[in-house]
Formats: sequence, C-alpha cells, structure tokens
Amino acid sequence: MLTKPDGMYEIQLMPKQEILVEQVRPEQMRAKPTDMSKLGFGRYFSDHFFATEFDRKHGWHKTRIEPQRQLRIDAAAICLHYGQEVFEGLKAYLGKDNGIYLFRWQKNAERMRNSCKRLMMESVDEELFGQAVKSLVLLERDWIPNDKDSTLYIRPTLIATDPYLGVRPGDEYAFYIITGPVGAYYPQGFNPVGIWVSEEDVRAVRGGLGEAKTAANYAHSLCAQNKATKLGFSQVLWLDAIEHKWVEEVGTMNIFFRIGDEVVTPPLGGTILPGVTRDSVIQICKHWGIKLVERKISIDEVVDHIRAGELKETFGSGTAAVISPVGVISYKGEKYTIGGNQTGELSQKLYNYLTRLQRGHEVDPFGWVERIDKLDFNSVVNGK
Ligand code: COI
Repeated sequence: MLTKPDGMYEIQLMPKQEILVEQVRPEQMRAKPTDMSKLGFGRYFSDHFFATEFDRKHGWHKTRIEPQRQLRIDAAAICLHYGQEVFEGLKAYLGKDNGIYLFRWQKNAERMRNSCKRLMMESVDEELFGQAVKSLVLLERDWIPNDKDSTLYIRPTLIATDPYLGVRPGDEYAFYIITGPVGAYYPQGFNPVGIWVSEEDVRAVRGGLGEAKTAANYAHSLCAQNKATKLGFSQVLWLDAIEHKWVEEVGTMNIFFRIGDEVVTPPLGGTILPGVTRDSVIQICKHWGIKLVERKISIDEVVDHIRAGELKETFGSGTAAVISPVGVISYKGEKYTIGGNQTGELSQKLYNYLTRLQRGHEVDPFGWVERIDKLDFNSVVNGK
C-alpha cells in the first residue's frame, strides 16, 4: 500500500474510526482484586482489550474492543522471530471529584510512532491512539483503583503478525491495548531503592535501539538485572557502551542527581529512553525555578560527589516507577549511601506534586492532564 521506491515504508496514518464493542457477559467477568495495598505491578488484567489490525490492502481495520483473550497469531509471526514489537506504558487515575484523568497520553503516542519508525513498523496515529485509550478506559472505569497509591496501568502494544521467516519488515500488524490495576512498581513502594552499576553488560549503543520502547531492550537487560538481584539490588544502573563511564539510565526509569542546588540528568542521545516522566520532571523543576541541567555525568563524578557529601539525593522517574528515591549505589564492589538512605526533599516534593497533578488536585499550568469521565462513551467509540 505505502511502499516507497527505496523500500522504506511510510507510516500509515489513520484518523479516528468506529470501534466495534463486544462487552463481556456477566459470567465472563473477572474477579477484581479486593486488597488495593497488595496489587503489586502487572499481575491483574481487566475484562476487555482494544485491538486493531493492519494489512497493506485495508490499512488499520477490524478495530474493536472485546473481552480480553489469548491472541491468535501464527507460530511463524515475524514478531516472535525477529522482534518487531514496540510498547508503551501510561496510566488512568481516579482523582478530584471522582473524575478519571489521563496524563500526557499524546507523548506516548508520539514515542510509539518513533519506536515504530526505528523498527520499520507501521504505526497508529495520535488520534486513533487517543480514541483507543479513552474508549477502553471508559469501558473499564470500574477497574480503576479507588486508592491514592494505585492506578489503572495501560499497555499499548504493536506487533508484526505476518507469517514469514525471511528477515524483512512485516506487512501485517496488530495494535492492541490491555489494562490492569497496579500499585507501586517496587515492593518497597515510595522508599529508597538500591541500584547496582553494571560494569560489563551495556544497555544500548549509539545507532542501536536504546531510545525505542521495544521488547529487545528489556530482554537484553535481564542478564544484568539477574546479577543485580542476586547481589540484593533492585535495579541496574547502566553506563555508556563505549567508555563504560557515563551514566545513562536505570532498568525501568531515567535517573536524576541533586548535586548541591543543581539537578543533573544525562542527556538523551539515542541510547536513553525518552521518558514521559523524565520530561515532566525536567519541566516541573524548571517551572519551580530549580536549576536543572541535562549533561553527561560520569559514574566517577557521582562517586566523588557522594564522598564529598555534595550528592544530596538521587531519584529515578518512570510511568511505572513514578518518582523512586535511590538510597544506595553499588559500584566496583563498594556501596555508597546517598542522603542517609532516606527519601530526599526534592524526590518527595516531586512525587507529591506529580501524583496530585495527575489526579486533577493541582492547577495544571502545563496542559498535561485530561479529564475524560464526562466524555460520552458512544461518541468516543464512534470517533465523534
Ligand atoms: C513504564 O514505566 O511504563 C514501563 O514501561 C516500564 C516497564 C518496563 C515496567
């Protein structure tokens, strides 16, 4: 349909379309978790999922919401053999006046398009992405936890589905979205975690896949994560692949250091995931008048600042992790404690502000928060 002479595929942009809805029968409904404090992350899934399919003749079609079920894809599907898969993570929040709120979903749509471009995959445009997320969340509204530390996690996923064993970009794709109630990503909740600096394994090389949100980056991280876990640390702190010196990011989050009165975070440069929460933290700090710089920072510099008592706090940011204080960094067998292994002042302030903003409890000077519970479900589903 959209093959260009050089063999590159144009991204298939598709405006809103009608979503067919098949609701679960009462007897098919899943039991909802009863104890919100024990949700954990990624263990529960709601009743329905959104799905749409692409082929070069029809574009995106068969667009629907139906009872969540096992996917039917061919055992030869390209995604299973050559990893053409990208995904996103965002959340729906129950907040002020019992409203349902979304946060910067357009950034997730944009990143998914960029990830697709990197992996030579078809993508969906922002309109269909937003329509799909809103329709599904509205239908699953009873699954949004009524608890200040829990949310409905939304996982859009796009895969190449055509059965073919030659190595080439797919011609057929499925885009689907599942949701489920989640609590804190780390068992510690909002408490400092320990991170372990990987000296051997690297996450990404320039020119590689580092900035794409694709399964390969996570599959690849498991080996080093296993080492970190065995040593008693929550996550891996990745260094750059060439000099093994420059701090890049943590397993499931971007990283920030408060050194004196300045906040430092590594710049995006192709190897780091462009986190939506990372970008939000940068803008919030600037809005508050805090000096925030995106610059390269070496692990030796971090250690020097810890030794000199200048590293006041360290925290990670991510959709799943929100703001996660880091209390200990382990490097070359040495354990360095930051801020007495206590949650830092800025981490706490950011966590409070961000989680209140996301639930409509703060005035939103950025235009990031969208309340959706007043939308008419049928109009959203019909693309109106
Ligand atoms: C998210 O923060 O939403 C992510 O996708 C991280 C995930 C791998 C847990």
